[in-house]
Parts: sequence; structure tokens; C-alpha cells
Amino acid sequence: MHKIAPSILAANFSNLGSDITMIDQSLADWVHIDVMDGRFVPNISFGFPIIESIRHLTKKTFDVHLMIVEPDLLIPKFAKVGADVITVHLEACPHLHRTIQLIKSLGLKAGVALNPHTSINGLEEIIADLDLVCIMSVNPGFGGQKFIENTFLKVRKLKNLILEKKSPALIEIDGGVGLGNAVDLIQSGADVLVAGSSIFKTDAPSDAISNLKNLSPNNLLC
Ligand code: DX5
Ligand code: ZN
Repeated sequence: MHKIAPSILAANFSNLGSDITMIDQSLADWVHIDVMDGRFVPNISFGFPIIESIRHLTKKTFDVHLMIVEPDLLIPKFAKVGADVITVHLEACPHLHRTIQLIKSLGLKAGVALNPHTSINGLEEIIADLDLVCIMSVNPGFGGQKFIENTFLKVRKLKNLILEKKSPALIEIDGGVGLGNAVDLIQSGADVLVAGSSIFKTDAPSDAISNLKNLSPNNLLC
């Protein structure tokens, strides 16, 4: 069964606690937390104090997506404030194997994210060590962007690599995900759907989560 990870980048920051509580009481599986540093991506979001302040509001998995340079320096602190999964960008990690081992040594699940232009071929030697691969289906830095259609091809290629290498990695899709592409993504091999705007920019975010979660086998077959 696929997982739904609402991205709180699209939440109401002036009342963030109530959005986390809504996620907690919804059919969502994870909470997707986008950390941006203004260097790896041209935007700044939030960091340790915010994550720490919402940690007590839910036991759901905190899926922390680090869009930052030199993540190794900060990974222990993200573990301390409550991350369960930490995903780093391939493009930001010259010593990716070491970074993945660091995340795992802290008892967390380790993920790698790929920008839209980055080939999955770069994962061949590390895929067996990964718990998650995040395929960016927009250029990272902002919510509300248009889904890049080449993602479907990438997901299928990644699924083949995962099967070939007997990797436990889940495939996560991040950016422009909604009811219009969710079924095709799952059929292509996606395990985790991140959704920001298609959840929070609606009148009924909890229902939007249910709709993404409850895509029935019939929807998935036709
Ligand atoms: C983009 C972030 C995404 C973003 C998704 O840099 O990594 O998680 O919040 O937002 P939507 O679903 O609005 O594209
Ligand atoms: Zn993200």
C-alpha cells in the first residue's frame, strides 16, 4: 500500500500546530518536512526549532528532506530534534556513502534525493544501502510547481534498479503530485507520494489526504 506524506511547506505557518494535528488525525502516513538553506536551493524554509516544536504533536514518521549543502555537519542535530528519515541530495554530497552511513549510525532511515536532471545511474553503487530514493518531480526550492512528466520514466528505471540490486529502498515522488498523476505514479512503482499544494491549498485538506490514500485497486488497474 502506498504511503502519503503531506509536505508542510504548504501548511499555514501562522497556525502550524493545528495543521500537524490535522495530519496526525488523517490517513497520512508520514509528515514531509522540507529544510532549505538558501544555498543549495534559492529559498529558505525552516530548521531545528520548528521541527522540535511540532515533534510532540504526532508520532507519525518525520520525513526530513534536506535541501542544504554540507548536510553532514547538521545531520546529528536533525536526528536530535526528531527526524525519523533523513534524505540528502546526491548533488550536495561528494562523499555520499559516508553521509548515508552517518544517518544510519544515528538509528535513522537514510534517503537520497535526485534533482530532475540527475540520472538514476549515479545510484547504482549505493542503492543497496538506501532505505529511500526521492525523485524530485519539480526543481526543488518551492511548492506549487508543475509536475515534470519525465518522472514516470525515471520511476520505472529506478524500480528496475531496485529489483536488480535487491534494495529495500522505497521510491518517493516529490513535487506537483496530486490526484491527476497519483495513480500513474503508483503503477510506475512509487511507494511514497509527497503532496503539498494538492492537500493544503484545498478547502478540506484531510479529505484530500484520504482521496490520495484511498486510490482503490480499481483506480490502480484501469
Ligand atoms: C519542493 C519540496 C516539496 C514541495 C512539494 O522543493 O521538496 O516537498 O513542498 O510541494 P507541491 O506538492 O506543492 O509541489
Ligand atoms: Zn520535499
